[in-house]
Amino acid sequence: SRLWLIVPAAGVGRRMQSECPKQYLPLAGRTVLAQTLARLHAAFPAATLCLCLARDDARFDASMVPFADWRRIDGGAERADSVVAALAAVASEAADDDAVLVHDAARPCVATDDLIRLLAAVREVPDGALLAAPVADTMKRAAADGRVAGTELRDGLWHALTPQGACFGLLREAYRTALAQGVALTDESSALETMGRAPRLVAGRRNNLKITQPDDLALAEQILAAQVS
Ligand code: C5P
Repeated sequence: SRLWLIVPAAGVGRRMQSECPKQYLPLAGRTVLAQTLARLHAAFPAATLCLCLARDDARFDASMVPFADWRRIDGGAERADSVVAALAAVASEAADDDAVLVHDAARPCVATDDLIRLLAAVREVPDGALLAAPVADTMKRAAADGRVAGTELRDGLWHALTPQGACFGLLREAYRTALAQGVALTDESSALETMGRAPRLVAGRRNNLKITQPDDLALAEQILAAQVS
């Protein structure tokens, strides 16, 4: 069956304290977005890309897209709205059992073998799957005054990374159900969980970082350089 890639890239990146949204910051000679799309294309050259961009995005340039088959989708107010817009835009073309992977534009360091293993899980597991990494640090809950309110049990805690995915029909239904219930969603797994589904955690590289703060760019550059050599 067909593979759909949804890349939400309609964010404004408030935490970067920059005029420029993080997907357009320079990384190893290209934009973060171009690096991310190159990573996805290396693993899945025949996939169809749905790229969610802000309606008034003036920085996007089609030369950043290596896919032969792709469309531009108007993003929404939140990441979840952008993903829902993409799912709705292709609903008439997609079959329920097509695979969908959703990957943040701000994660340019995702490795090819992690992408391949994740897609295999999405095709195999009926509840969907996500790349994830076990938590290594001791986890503290903070009180409002910035002091420690308690220690969370680290055992069994994972960082949810992207891509995350499921079959098209299930993912669309999951988003519909979750949004109807007013659940705030920051990833696909949360949507699937509201339907009682239990997506599989696929252990991926911890260095699949999300560009969030200005100093993440230098780190991402080192990770990319190490992966290519
Ligand atoms: O802000 P955050 O890091 O959670 O954003 C994750 C991804 O979702 C980014 O690639 C961002 O561009 C995208 N996004 C979006 N539409 C929004 C907000 C964020 O596509 N309204």
